[in-house]
Amino acid sequence: MAKPIGIFDSGVGGTSIWKEVVRMLPFEDTIYLADSANAPYGEKPKEEILGLSVKNTEYLLEQGCKIILVACNTATTNAIDHLRSHYNVPFIGIEPAIKPAALQTRTKKVGVLATKGTLSSNLFHNTSKLYAEGITVLEQEGKGLVELIEAGRINSPEMFELLRGFLRPMLDQNIDCLVLGCTHYPYLIPVLREMLPAHVHIIDSGEAVARQTKAVLERNDLLAEKSNRPKHIFYTNAEVQVLKELVGTQATRVAHLDF
Ligand code: SIN
Repeated sequence: MAKPIGIFDSGVGGTSIWKEVVRMLPFEDTIYLADSANAPYGEKPKEEILGLSVKNTEYLLEQGCKIILVACNTATTNAIDHLRSHYNVPFIGIEPAIKPAALQTRTKKVGVLATKGTLSSNLFHNTSKLYAEGITVLEQEGKGLVELIEAGRINSPEMFELLRGFLRPMLDQNIDCLVLGCTHYPYLIPVLREMLPAHVHIIDSGEAVARQTKAVLERNDLLAEKSNRPKHIFYTNAEVQVLKELVGTQATRVAHLDF
């Protein structure tokens, strides 16, 4: 039997990464944990994010997962070093896509929309220092966005109002790249596209993460057989409705579970 890829996030946002993973790895089984009862992680202290990440990882390992994808920027920045040093499977994390933005920008001004937990982390600062030399990185905390996405209110007036307030200072500084530093935010791309001038590129990490997952599975000889008919199981510890709507018919099963 094929061993699944385990994926967890503070909620439904990591399904944006899951979609890229199944596109690039069409024979793999997946198990996704949406810890929506504890969302958002971005406002929590590091110790609490670490504890939740350990709980999610252990559940996925009990299900026999061969690799864990931490599909949450906040959990990656706060917990991935600990997870890698305590468990004997490969871990893939999500880093804000500063490098591609730094390569694309012409105005040398890049905006990053992320949670407080990500923006204040060492990993974020080290990534910015490493890849964005000579570039101004304008950080904007997306306070309140995750809650609206979790509630399925992506096109609501409150969402437009919040985003207007977050984008204005970055646009006033002439950014031409906007990095989405939270896996929930790719669901805002249609809304952002309506609100941003056409020359502003929106950059997220989904495809790069899926490519990295494939490379690590190949390197460790962990790829599923091409004859495998993949199963995609989703668990949430909150209401199933929003998760169901986001993953659609590709899901084998979407269920509530008190993990
Ligand atoms: C959050 O739970 O606050 C956001 C998750 C993320 O950082 O990707």
